[in-house]
Amino acid sequence: MLSKLPEIGDPRLLVGPGTFDDAGVVRLSDELALVQTVDFFTPVVDDAFDFGRIAAANALSDVYAMGAKPFSALAICAFPIETLPLEVLRETLAGGLTVLREEGVLPLGGHTIKGPEFTYGLAVTGLVHPDKVLTNAGAKVGDVLVLTKAIGTGVLATALKRGVLGEAERKAMIASMVATNRAAFEACEGLQIHALTDVTGYGLLGHGLEMAEASGVRIEIDAPAVPLLPGARAAVEGGSIPAGLVANRSWVAGKIEMYGVDDVIGQLLCDPQTSGGLLAAIAPEDVESYSQACRQRGVAAAVIGRVVVGSAGTEVIRGGLG
Ligand code: CO
Ligand code: CO
Repeated sequence: MLSKLPEIGDPRLLVGPGTFDDAGVVRLSDELALVQTVDFFTPVVDDAFDFGRIAAANALSDVYAMGAKPFSALAICAFPIETLPLEVLRETLAGGLTVLREEGVLPLGGHTIKGPEFTYGLAVTGLVHPDKVLTNAGAKVGDVLVLTKAIGTGVLATALKRGVLGEAERKAMIASMVATNRAAFEACEGLQIHALTDVTGYGLLGHGLEMAEASGVRIEIDAPAVPLLPGARAAVEGGSIPAGLVANRSWVAGKIEMYGVDDVIGQLLCDPQTSGGLLAAIAPEDVESYSQACRQRGVAAAVIGRVVVGSAGTEVIRGGLG
């Protein structure tokens, strides 16, 4: 959408709208850069408190994905006061505030308007040393790709809306979405993380492609190594396919090659995620240290692929099927 707007061309701009990154980064001094991002959406779950927590974890994620620490946040909200009880708004804001408090992020207030559809999210400001900014543009041939959350929130949320999701699966989906990426970000400290992004609306393959394109590399994904949330496969088999999954699939189609990939997994790799995990391209000698640092913080980091020689901005997905 931004491609037709004039370029900004300010030397203070470290990461601007011209890249596929999650947030903008501006140099304030030799020691400090400002990271800014905004994210909001309509409810993905029925419980208002959970929705608030998920929206907050998702908004903070774009700051963590730049290698930065979130510092303060403003809530952005549209609320249909005629059709929903105010209690829903209160619970949602309380959920968001709970996450901000846990993460040590200062809530600065925000702005709510009347609107036809309930929409909530946050504008988040983060801080980082200018030399420590991580983008999706640094992946190098030989790097190992690590993913820090299982995928499937899109198909599971669709199954929930259709009333066909089991209680255990619902709980696991929500637990994944309310978890922030702070631990996965902190685990990066001192390691050779060459590129970092979070997996959200474009799905694993879409965000992988953005990294491949921004870095000028080809990436290879081992489909069976990608962790799936419980019930994700059954949701696809039962026809709970979000529109975003179909759109992602057609968007990546010309840039990927799949070999021996089971069709259900092929679809899940395009599933749009809400509050998904971090995808990191890590120097091979640091992968074990990263996994260990994640484990110590209660995060399961899965090795799902690597950066390979080949045409820039493409992906190859191997499924291991005959
Ligand atoms: Co993002
Ligand atoms: Co985002």
